[in-house]
Amino acid sequence: MLISSPLNAALNAQVGHEFSASLQYLEIATYFAREGWAKLAAHFYRQSDEERDHALRLVKYVTETGGELVIPMIPAPQHEFASVEEAVRLSLEWEQTVTQQFNRLMDIAISEKDYLAQGFLGWFVREQLEEVSGMEGLLKLVQHAGEKNLVYVETLIGKGKPDQE
Ligand SMILES: [Fe+2]
Ligand SMILES: [Fe+2]
Repeated sequence: MLISSPLNAALNAQVGHEFSASLQYLEIATYFAREGWAKLAAHFYRQSDEERDHALRLVKYVTETGGELVIPMIPAPQHEFASVEEAVRLSLEWEQTVTQQFNRLMDIAISEKDYLAQGFLGWFVREQLEEVSGMEGLLKLVQHAGEKNLVYVETLIGKGKPDQE
């Protein structure tokens, strides 16, 4: 057994948050698709897949360290969005919250002197730099373009602007 029960419980909760993010990004992807923004939709389908991958990383860690995975209830994601900007802002706020969640998980690992968990969680802490800065960049782009000129955002995402991929 390489995991404490408080950390096991906190990681199980985080598995729920990652699946929540995955479902939320799926809702946003289909909203963009309905509105005719194909590249933005594709971008959020990818984000949804990434969040599922994050959940699986946590699942495997809990299992390999001898813990017990219990997936919590996942609340329904937000379905209605007033605008593309609102959907992207929601995503940025989500990523900022997730950053705090991983900082708290790291706090637990540090207080328990769990060096294995600290190494494992370090990847997520670093990953949030890309997640938050990428979403911030996208929000700025959407705001600069305005709702009527989102076609420019589509063009930039299509060209593979690095922090939008
Ligand atoms: Fe994530
Ligand atoms: Fe994320």
